[in-house]
Amino acid sequence: MDPKQKSTILITCSAGLVDYVRREVEDLGYQSGESHKTGLEMQGDQYDAMRLNLHLRTAYNVLFLLKQFRCESPEELYGNVIELSWEDMISPDEYVSVVSRVNTEHVNNSMFVSLKVKDAIVDRIADKTGSRPDSGKDRDKVVVQLYWKDDLCRLYLNTSGLKLSDRGYRKMPHTAPLRESLAAAIIMATGYDGSEPLICPMCGSGTLAIEAALIASRRAPGLLRGNYGFMHTKYFDRPAWQQMRNEALKKSKARGGKAGFTPARIIATDIDPQAVEAARKNAMTAGVSHLIDFDVCDFAETVIPPGTGTIVMNPEYGLRVGQMQKLKKTYKRIGDFFKQKCAGYTGYVFTGNPALSKVIGLRTSRRFEFYNANIECRLLKYELYAGTKDKQA
Ligand SMILES: C[S@@+](CC[C@H](N)C(=O)[O-])C[C@H]1O[C@@H](n2cnc3c(N)ncnc32)[C@H](O)[C@@H]1O
Repeated sequence: MDPKQKSTILITCSAGLVDYVRREVEDLGYQSGESHKTGLEMQGDQYDAMRLNLHLRTAYNVLFLLKQFRCESPEELYGNVIELSWEDMISPDEYVSVVSRVNTEHVNNSMFVSLKVKDAIVDRIADKTGSRPDSGKDRDKVVVQLYWKDDLCRLYLNTSGLKLSDRGYRKMPHTAPLRESLAAAIIMATGYDGSEPLICPMCGSGTLAIEAALIASRRAPGLLRGNYGFMHTKYFDRPAWQQMRNEALKKSKARGGKAGFTPARIIATDIDPQAVEAARKNAMTAGVSHLIDFDVCDFAETVIPPGTGTIVMNPEYGLRVGQMQKLKKTYKRIGDFFKQKCAGYTGYVFTGNPALSKVIGLRTSRRFEFYNANIECRLLKYELYAGTKDKQA
């Protein structure tokens, strides 16, 4: 296959993030197409797929459409898949994994469907080359993805392989860490651009602070990763990839200081010393620790630089028996902290618990809808003018 041949690219994401993916795709200069709850389409070639993998912050996977066909049985599926010239795409020395999502009356077992697709791919390669590639469940090499809905099958190459949200910097997760793609979307929702201070009390393992630092320094998140699905295909153009990486690096270095812009300080604090230790190490792995000041303290003791800026908090919102009373006190204190210490800033609280958010006791100026592991969440925005009104949200 010619890597310059265009096809549909489907960018997948978690529920609630598709508008952020669209914004990113358009900022990269692409025209976005149709979307649904967890995916956005556009047209592009394999080079566009590489570029998307390098730059997207809020996506899960970049899928490149190989073939679309009508199908009513596993045998028909096999027949359609074996027709593709897989030998031009995958070397027999490679390792292939197949993932299927099935919503059709023709079959009810997605594992069986994946097996059928895998058989067709390796049978074809064995027939043409005399040896068959290994296959299995690992998703860090060639990943082929099938969606079979009613009578329609769509067969994609998953050019990302492992999810893009697994950036690789979180060597030390802590309590209830946010997924990196969700944290990036939260920071994007605040409109943060690095020109003013960003404060993350309750930073946990530091995901919000680290994603903010990556955004402020215009550092492509894909620079942190050395392995993608597309690298395991025969048409992987390593020099072109290296050039894309170099361009992204140059852009981020220029942003880091020499060209006149140094992001304002990011401050990340947590009451738990182990969380701060994890956050510090994760920031080092992500290459942004020089942009973040860490401290161990109660959130209310976090030092807020004078002037204007953004505060983002992600308190626990668990519903375990006995937790509510303690959390109510914490949420009430968050409201007090905003009122008493953060005048001039814009405050944000990310929570999945509407009852607790009411206890904050301040008027929200906006609410952004998100999902965290299927729990409906809100990012609540508070304009903290001097003399902010003490009113229920
Ligand atoms: C839901 S976790 C934050 C997870 C974080 N967003 C991440 O991605 O890792 C909440 C954090 O609040 C911290 N915390 C709880 N009570 C606190 C307090 N009074 N002051 C400061 N931090 C507190 C906990 O130690 C925990 O790390």
